[in-house]
Amino acid sequence: MKRSPAGTLSLEDVGKQVKLQAWVHRRREHAGVTFLNLRDRSGIVQVVLRSNEHPEAFKALDPARIEWVVEVEGLVAARARDMVNPDMATGAIEVLAQQARVLSRADALPFTPDGKGDASEEQRLKYRYLELRRSELQANLLLRHRVTLEILKYFDERDFVHVETPILTRSTPEGARDYLVPSRIHRGEFYALPQSPQLFKQILMASGLERYVQIARCFRDEDLRADRQPEFTQVDIEMSFPDEEDIYELIEGLFARIFPLAGIHPVLPFPRLKYAEAIRRFGSDKPDLRFDLEIVEVTEHLADSNFRAFRGTVADGGVIRALRVPGGARASRREVDVWSDRARVFGAAGVLTLRRRDGEKSFQVKGVLTEQEIDSVSEALEMAEGDLVLIVAARERVVAAALGALRTEVGKQYDLIDPDRQAFLWITEIPLVERDSDKKPWTSCNHPFTAPCCEDLGKLETDPGAVRARAYDVVFNGVELGGGSIRIHQAELQSKVFELLGIGAEEAESRFGFLLEALRFGAPPHGGLALGLDRIVMLMAGANSLRDVIAFPKTTSATCLMTSAPSGVDAEQLRELGIKVTEAPVAE
Ligand code: AMO
Repeated sequence: MKRSPAGTLSLEDVGKQVKLQAWVHRRREHAGVTFLNLRDRSGIVQVVLRSNEHPEAFKALDPARIEWVVEVEGLVAARARDMVNPDMATGAIEVLAQQARVLSRADALPFTPDGKGDASEEQRLKYRYLELRRSELQANLLLRHRVTLEILKYFDERDFVHVETPILTRSTPEGARDYLVPSRIHRGEFYALPQSPQLFKQILMASGLERYVQIARCFRDEDLRADRQPEFTQVDIEMSFPDEEDIYELIEGLFARIFPLAGIHPVLPFPRLKYAEAIRRFGSDKPDLRFDLEIVEVTEHLADSNFRAFRGTVADGGVIRALRVPGGARASRREVDVWSDRARVFGAAGVLTLRRRDGEKSFQVKGVLTEQEIDSVSEALEMAEGDLVLIVAARERVVAAALGALRTEVGKQYDLIDPDRQAFLWITEIPLVERDSDKKPWTSCNHPFTAPCCEDLGKLETDPGAVRARAYDVVFNGVELGGGSIRIHQAELQSKVFELLGIGAEEAESRFGFLLEALRFGAPPHGGLALGLDRIVMLMAGANSLRDVIAFPKTTSATCLMTSAPSGVDAEQLRELGIKVTEAPVAE
């Protein structure tokens, strides 16, 4: 007899003979009757074993406990009206067991997959297969599977070709540390795992492939967070002869196709926000636009104030900006301290507050601001009774980052986020290069292959910081889902950008000579983008961490608790590789 999926049985199957092979999810006993909830990927169904009707089946499953795997053959029957369970998809029926056997036993479990109990995160990752039996995680993996299929179908319909690029390769500069793999044959030489397939996809354009897509594994040794894993998956795309509009249309179309799988219906086209404006108004290059709160410039209102912290900062070239916290006037001293600490993380001295309560406006430091200064700030922020204003004075970058982080925090804390709003947007006109101070070298805001805006080419040598890149990011609800650019396709311009980034001709030749060469042999104009597949699925699933959408994720210290990777290796393996491990890092 063919196996029936447990969760699919319904009143339509009443009277049918079925065979179940599934896990024991729950067990209850009454005199001479055992009720088992059997679970497989499709769901759960109740099985009834009666000692008086089918004593052998009853006896066979008598020892069966939670998470044992069993086989049951029996008859689907409607439950008595008062026994119907409306909380269960199969709650109107049950299976009356006639034959049964145990297929596999389970030892005492560290935790059960029914979501109850209080297993620690470590336990759950160590016994990942038990955790993966939970219906929520299975649903996430299923969603990921559907999204992946839909993505490939979408690109196939548009003549994109899926090409796999190497995992053992050379370093790709995406801003993180590389994972290195030592070569046995070439002692002292290393492969790097790809931070992205960037160089290969550009070479594929030089190869005449015209349209490339890959569900690509990427590896980055960087500080990990809930939305960062050391090993993750990109939907990697590259096209020949595109302009920015082609990319926007392609990705918006893709999102309109996949997000409805999770009941999210993007409104097209997505709004676009220039990078500089995003930083100024929201303090972030990935602003959460599900709430409207904006950062307000108040430098001109406070530049001449008697308060040294303000006057001095402005005199040193800094700025003063503020954020309104609607209804925040009741915030406690401790709450403000927490916000101050948060601002300090970004290099600010802290935050200062202006409260409007009981018709009175009061600045945190008494007697230093004039009434007129207080009024003008309060007016600029459209402060209402009961509001609080957070003020940060520092270098522009610091103020933006600090208030941007506070905006996100306040949005959550004060329930400002509209749950019905879906905020997709493009960030455009991202700078080509940035640096921390005049003395520091320029670094790429994206990667070194990003094309500068044609109108800004003249500034490449005179004012690099003002050069905009032909780069774009796509953001959803405050999370960067993807980014990309139109690339440099002329070897001369590429060399110039390398030079700006302090990558000399020799270094460029040794690291990326193959790309520079490809650009010299007839490379088409090209551009593309990469989307974080894990992040997309995480947001679609409503999960808070990438761990919930990756079958075998790593911890924040980049370990796999199930396999205990990374691990030591045999002395013989090290010998073959010519590697000696020292306790402390090798001195320079
Ligand atoms: P970028 O570095 O912006 O671009 O990466 C693209 C997208 O990949 C996702 N992502 C991550 N997801 C999980 N864990 C990580 N550690 C992680 N790092 C990045 C993000 C991000 O937006 N080659 C370029 C793309 C291009 O120019 O075409 C690149 O890799 O969602």
